[in-house]
Amino acid sequence: MTQVWDGQQRRIELQEVGMRDGLQSEAQFVATEDKIALLNALSQCGLTRIEVTAFVSATAIPALKDAEIVMNEITRQPGVIYSALVPNLKGAQRAVAARANELNMVLSATESHNLSNLRMTQAQSFSALTAAGAYAKDAGVALNVSLSCAFGCPMEGEVDADTVMDWCRRIMDTPGVTGISLCDTTGMAYPGQVHALTRAFLAQWPASVLTLHFHNTRGMGLANILAAIDAGAYRFDTSLGGIGGCPYAPGASGNVCSEEVVHALQLMGYDCGVDLAALLTVARYLPDLIGHEVPSQLVKAGQRLDLHPLPAGFEEIKARALSR
Ligand code: COA
Ligand code: ZN
Repeated sequence: MTQVWDGQQRRIELQEVGMRDGLQSEAQFVATEDKIALLNALSQCGLTRIEVTAFVSATAIPALKDAEIVMNEITRQPGVIYSALVPNLKGAQRAVAARANELNMVLSATESHNLSNLRMTQAQSFSALTAAGAYAKDAGVALNVSLSCAFGCPMEGEVDADTVMDWCRRIMDTPGVTGISLCDTTGMAYPGQVHALTRAFLAQWPASVLTLHFHNTRGMGLANILAAIDAGAYRFDTSLGGIGGCPYAPGASGNVCSEEVVHALQLMGYDCGVDLAALLTVARYLPDLIGHEVPSQLVKAGQRLDLHPLPAGFEEIKARALSR
């Protein structure tokens, strides 16, 4: 019998971002055929959204230089939305040519991070967004915008909620834009802040256009997801194994971990539509492919009711205890 958090069985939608946010900062290049195999396995786990790769400059992100091949060669499951991150119109054109179902355009809530990450001012990025929006609309492809540093910037500090809401308004008013992700790029968000910003967003726009994207840099990822659910959000980016991080944001580390989130939310009575055992099997391939352990506690500990053998000499211990 599962426990119910708020008295209602509710559907939570997860977008798996490990193959993009996760792999983009890995030093060891994951072979193209291994990426494709991982994505094909992820497609079988019941996820409805998978961010496949990024159509960015290969100099900026060498780990994803094989974006076209990967996007073209994965085996697509019906009902799964395959998205790709893009920084500009050129990226949008490449992604559409490779048959991405959704574009994820990135823009920062702070000038310092926008310049560091994208080598453009926010104004330049915004005009790239306008161009990409018109292009996506014409191509009939959805366009989500990921607003980086929406909960704080590692170089500028606090980003106030009004600034974030102003960006949201400008973004949502851009023709072609179909959704927005509030991104906690370096794990600066905390539950009270998340609750307030989610409420402010949902007072203006429906939950169907909102995604939240948390990094677990300071251990608050899952708490932030719960705070956002409590405020009415239901879609989250999570990353297999908890890998991830923006190479152009100082101190960035892994996203909130997909299998940990599914495990916790299922126990709380939420339905993520995901086959947890299958997801965990895929996560266990990661350490070999990236050359180091992953942050996932579940990869190490297994699920809550995965049992361990009794200690050696248990019968003797028991017999002695009973004879006392
Ligand atoms: N895909 C591939 N190549 C691209 C590109 C894209 N989306 N956009 C630009 N380029 C190419 C240009 O054609 C140019 O190539 P050339 O030298 O052969 O002519 C080269 O990159 C430089 O173009 P420029 O516009 O001067 O780019 P830049 O060096 O200022 O970099 C970005 C701008 C946006 C392309 C780059 O910073 C980038 O890709 N950033 C992504 C960072 C990222 O993914 N961060 C993590 C995710 S949040
Ligand atoms: Zn991220």
